[in-house]
Amino acid sequence: MINLAPYWPPFGLTLTTPRLILRPIRDEEIPAAAHAALSGIHEPGRSPFSRPWAEAPAAQLGTNMAQWYWRCRANMSPQEWTLLLGIWHDGEFVGCQDIEAKDFATLKTVGTGSWLRRSAQGRGLGKEMRAAVALYSFDWLGAEVAESEAATWNQQSLGVSRSLGYELNGVTRASWGGQRQEAQKVRLTPATFKRPDWTLEVQGHEPTAQYLGI
Ligand SMILES: CC(C)(COP(=O)(O)OP(=O)(O)OC[C@H]1O[C@@H](n2cnc3c(N)ncnc32)[C@H](O)[C@@H]1OP(=O)(O)O)[C@@H](O)C(=O)NCCC(=O)NCCS
Repeated sequence: MINLAPYWPPFGLTLTTPRLILRPIRDEEIPAAAHAALSGIHEPGRSPFSRPWAEAPAAQLGTNMAQWYWRCRANMSPQEWTLLLGIWHDGEFVGCQDIEAKDFATLKTVGTGSWLRRSAQGRGLGKEMRAAVALYSFDWLGAEVAESEAATWNQQSLGVSRSLGYELNGVTRASWGGQRQEAQKVRLTPATFKRPDWTLEVQGHEPTAQYLGI
């Protein structure tokens, strides 16, 4: 494996929880990510995402994912960044947890989004990976607010938020893939965060933080 971390520092970042490894998706891992997504993330016709990306035809999904990963990497700057963290469980790629920010230096706010393949859902892994990025954002990046949103019917996502101490932050009506959707916004601060009883292990933080202008 070529070590690209000296050229693109986030490739050196690894977050470890009791059951999961989170690290920026590398090119050689894109097939595993596409395979996980193709195995199914949600009920057909009921996309929980603001863009219904997982409903793309099977032959197109991997291409779209690859282009999305490359676009996010290529566009990263201290003013606007998205860390796409692949989730590894027992040596298998099971999903993705994003952290994103705009004008972080001023706002000290991150947004998050996530998905797990269906076979990995409902076992507490979604909560563990969101807790990991909340810990990383608050304790390492110095964030003061973590925001997220989910369709009002998405009890899995809202369950993770509730369980970690997020507060409800209003409902907005949005067009998700051309469909009207009521989106529940949620907000977490260090004061409301129900911290897990485990410690997050972090490797490669300094070069990543410097690269993000933090
Ligand atoms: C959202 C998602 C990442 C959550 O991960 P998960 O592993 O399934 O959820 P967990 O097992 O960690 O559940 C976490 C909490 O939510 C609660 N929860 C889960 N499903 C629930 C449901 N249907 N109703 C009520 N609560 C629920 C759990 O009880 C748990 O709370 P607790 O620890 O207090 O008991 C995952 O379900 C997923 O990928 N869904 C499809 C994609 C998606 O919706 N992404 C988010 C878009 S906003």
